[in-house]
Amino acid sequence: MLEITTRYGKSLSASGLRPDLAPDWIDAIDNPYLHGLFAPITAETAAADLPVEGTLPADLRGAYFRNGPNSRFAPKNRYHWFDGDGMIHAVWFDGGRARYANRWIDTWGAAKEQDAGASIWPGVLGPFDFSLPGGPLKDTANTDLIVLNGRLMALWYESGRLVAIDPQTLATEGVSDFDGRLRQRISAHSKTDPATGDFIFFGYGDRPPYMRYGVVRPDGSIHHTDITLPGPRRPHDIGVTPDYSILHDFPVFFDPAFFKKTGKRVPIFHPDVPTRYGVIPRFGTDADVRWFEFEPCYMLHVVNTWQEGDEVVMIGCRNADPTLRPDRRDGRIAAMLSGIKLRANLHEWRMNLATGATSERSLDDLNAEFPMINGDWLGRKNRYTWLHHIPHEIPATFDALVRYDLTDGTTQRYDYGPGIFGSEAPFAPRIGSAAEDDGYVVSFVTDTADWSSSVLVLDAADISAGPIARVRLPQRVPAGFHAAWMPAEGVQAR
Ligand SMILES: [Fe+2]
Repeated sequence: MLEITTRYGKSLSASGLRPDLAPDWIDAIDNPYLHGLFAPITAETAAADLPVEGTLPADLRGAYFRNGPNSRFAPKNRYHWFDGDGMIHAVWFDGGRARYANRWIDTWGAAKEQDAGASIWPGVLGPFDFSLPGGPLKDTANTDLIVLNGRLMALWYESGRLVAIDPQTLATEGVSDFDGRLRQRISAHSKTDPATGDFIFFGYGDRPPYMRYGVVRPDGSIHHTDITLPGPRRPHDIGVTPDYSILHDFPVFFDPAFFKKTGKRVPIFHPDVPTRYGVIPRFGTDADVRWFEFEPCYMLHVVNTWQEGDEVVMIGCRNADPTLRPDRRDGRIAAMLSGIKLRANLHEWRMNLATGATSERSLDDLNAEFPMINGDWLGRKNRYTWLHHIPHEIPATFDALVRYDLTDGTTQRYDYGPGIFGSEAPFAPRIGSAAEDDGYVVSFVTDTADWSSSVLVLDAADISAGPIARVRLPQRVPAGFHAAWMPAEGVQAR
């Protein structure tokens, strides 16, 4: 559909034009992660009073932040989408007006490469070089954005440092380590309990016991414990309920001997090994973890987790066949992107803490990922998730926003239109809202016909009606990873 042949292979461009603001060095690299929707941009821009089609609601006040990879320099070897330097794009909404800015995250590694004028670290496709400063991979902080104690923080999927970002200017404020008390690396999807302010984190690595789990209390005190896994694992997310956290151990892992020989981590799906979820009391230790076994799979993102009587319930986007081999139906880009196939369906797992019984079931067959909820419902039984449909042909893109009702299984859907792709779309509560879906969802969209980008605002209760406002942005927003909403009080408190 959108694939066309260019000098350097297939492009996602419908027009065949090179996307604007892309750096010249991409021209020499035939890699789909660097072209079309994925092409990095070279500009840091700020613009106020953006043109609005429709009407921006007066009770939409706050900021939409989205993180994602945006390489400064040509890669050192084969590039993967996960490797790019973190860049944040943001739109601030206030009184019916909107302003936009984007800025790179100034990490320690990015500063080193800036000084060198070139890439120093190769990416996740390896081979790994352990002699490099700080380790074989650069902590780009390119993955997630969270609001922690009122502060905006950027995080890296592979377990990295908490990087504090000024929510008004996007300037990097520096690494936050709670006055030296949090020295370990933590994973991108560590979470804050909205009821208590506890920050629940985990991290993982290649050395036994392979996982670390902990909680930072609002008073700054820290609880942490090692978690023993059977080997090096790559869990991406965690479940959180008021009393428990749910740790993930999926049967997708690399062979340490092959890694030692080649310096390459090649994740392999082991369909004969069960998925394991470890339920740990919030302030528990390794010995307290109760492991429950389920059908083999992989999961990037949890929708939500809660307690029902003796049961812990987890809803997530389950990938039933997380193999890296390309599907025969995939085009060339899909084959290359197959490492991030994003094939997932909504799924429910139940673990009974009294009886040890488990059950699981598929909730829907729509291929959908990057789920968002109303953040006030984190850890509590909720009804709605807003997530993205992922087309089979271009597996790392979002062509439709979907609202799924966990209570009755119904969906609403808004298709962005041919050649138009969205970004993770957080829920933005209406000022004074009480109901779970009383608010808006916001998403960047980029149109591959002319490489223009906009931000859309939809009524969270009625997304199928389409956007109530569309704000034209001054430049292209490349495809990216995770997003966050920060209410106006949070932005202004800085
Ligand atoms: Fe993620």
